[in-house]
Amino acid sequence: MLRIAVLVSGGGTNLQAVIDRIEDGTIRNTEIAMVISNNKNAKALERAEKHNIPSCCISPKDFESREVFNKTLLRTLTDLNPDLIVLAGFMVVIPPEMIRAFKNRIINIHPSLIPSFCGTGYYGLRVHEAALARGVKISGATVHFVDEGTDTGPIILQKAVKVKPTDTPEVLQRRIMEEAEWQIMPKAIDLIAAGKVKVVDGVAFIEEETA
Ligand code: GAR
Repeated sequence: MLRIAVLVSGGGTNLQAVIDRIEDGTIRNTEIAMVISNNKNAKALERAEKHNIPSCCISPKDFESREVFNKTLLRTLTDLNPDLIVLAGFMVVIPPEMIRAFKNRIINIHPSLIPSFCGTGYYGLRVHEAALARGVKISGATVHFVDEGTDTGPIILQKAVKVKPTDTPEVLQRRIMEEAEWQIMPKAIDLIAAGKVKVVDGVAFIEEETA
């Protein structure tokens, strides 16, 4: 059984997709051990509660320094000892100590086709604003392992989504969530739970389904 911790900041629609796919059996052999939010008002926390999933809030605002917040987050996760940490719209920079402690055991969903529109400053709606400003005709989403860079870790899955001339950032964001994020994030977790994802020399490989 793959025990996962899901880290969230806001709406939690990706968390919801993971919960739903575990409940309907699409994600196999996986349980959510804990949902952690850095924002006590995150709708994601309500979603966890509704499904009887343990949850807590660890907010930088409640600590005297970033260092103490980082240590608390790391200690919480070390005590929980999940097999996998899932960043599902977690808008906090992951401390390097945590990345080292959970090497190739942290995954993130990013709302573009990496390496486009990623890195420092590209998060949430900003990603879609930048994609529309550049006039790309295709965007999408990426699930990747987290390394010490920003959005630079091994890519696990990507899905492309067409951009329409009438798109606003909000409309494009929603379509990328529906058509890409809510599909590839659950799929990546299922593949990891099945032991089918390997990282070799900084590149992720997926073992082919045989059946
Ligand atoms: C999602 O679109 C996710 O890809 C993005 O934030 C949104 C969270 O939505 N993440 C990033 O931009 C990370 N760089 P959700 O809370 O409804 O899942």
